[in-house]
Amino acid sequence: MGIVVLGTGSCLPKRVMSNVDLESIVDTNDEWIRTRTGIESRHIGGKDEQTYILASRAAEKAMVAAEVTPDQIGLIVVGTISSHMQMPSTACFVQTEIGAKNAFAYDLNAACSGFMYGLDLAYKYILADHSMKVLVIGAETLSSRLDWADRNTCILFGDGAGAAVFGFTDDDRGIIGTHMLSDGSLWELLHMHGPESSNPDLKVENNTGAFIRMEGREVFKHAVRAMEDSVNTLLASKGLSIDDISLIIPHQANIRILHKLVERLKVTPDKVFINVSKYGNTSAASIPIALDDANSQGLIAEGDMVLFCSFGGGFTWGAALIKW
Ligand code: UT7
Repeated sequence: MGIVVLGTGSCLPKRVMSNVDLESIVDTNDEWIRTRTGIESRHIGGKDEQTYILASRAAEKAMVAAEVTPDQIGLIVVGTISSHMQMPSTACFVQTEIGAKNAFAYDLNAACSGFMYGLDLAYKYILADHSMKVLVIGAETLSSRLDWADRNTCILFGDGAGAAVFGFTDDDRGIIGTHMLSDGSLWELLHMHGPESSNPDLKVENNTGAFIRMEGREVFKHAVRAMEDSVNTLLASKGLSIDDISLIIPHQANIRILHKLVERLKVTPDKVFINVSKYGNTSAASIPIALDDANSQGLIAEGDMVLFCSFGGGFTWGAALIKW
């Protein structure tokens, strides 16, 4: 018995912004972006492509693939840091948009680890209630949270959504384990303020606005180390080695981080799925979009050992292993 992915889906905004397009916005160039990040283009949300709309379209595709109807979904969890409204949650907008009338729904803020923390939640929830079907979505329109004058960040991120339906199976497939961690003490290295407080006593010092701010070099080092550690800890706890893994689907932030991960984990590059060139860093959406890409390209077969790892603002990070 186990908790499996019944179906996956994704949705990207129509507009594609190339590195060359960015050259007219900030002092940057295609060559710098390609060599330092591996990114060639990203999708940018437009009218009627808010976070909940992208999330709902991805969810609908995942439900079709899973052969599950909206009324069978019991819980919707959306990992996001770019809801179009502070309240209600994106998950509640998704619930009504897709007609999941029997579900309860809420958002989860774990930045780029949003989908992974949601996966962990689905795992534990379905273990407690085998009849439950959980829709986990990672969805972002980070283009609405970027300082388009800051070349350190605005070239990195993109918009999109990915979703997976989790459910119970009687056979020997399913989630083998997860290993999630956080460290709030390093928040300043990657953060985003909220709107100014209307209570003068609760004003946050140095609120530079609701934009992503990042110390890229420092975050890079932490990302490599944290993903490597969580993967190794998870594998060791299950008595497995990296040679047992069929495919690794990591958070897509920077191709150089992924190359370092290949080196540190001592895997062949073909075992690590990479699509950062097309979408940039889509934060919580990056892993479920990559999962749906890999799945629709036929790269995952029944019985494969699929390993996920993420790192994001918080800091938040973790690894998860599924026998597909
Ligand atoms: O998803 C959450 C996790 N996020 C991440 O994992 C991101 C981690 N960090 C990174 O991916 C990389 O650190 C960046 C891609 C953000 C930056 O790459 P880097 O190799 O660490 O560059 P750097 O920040 O050290 O900057 C090198 C130079 C600087 O110029 P000087 O001081 O050497 O003259 C920057 O001002 O590159 C300059 N630079 C740029 N030049 C052209 C920074 N951004 C740009 C740009 N275009 N967009």
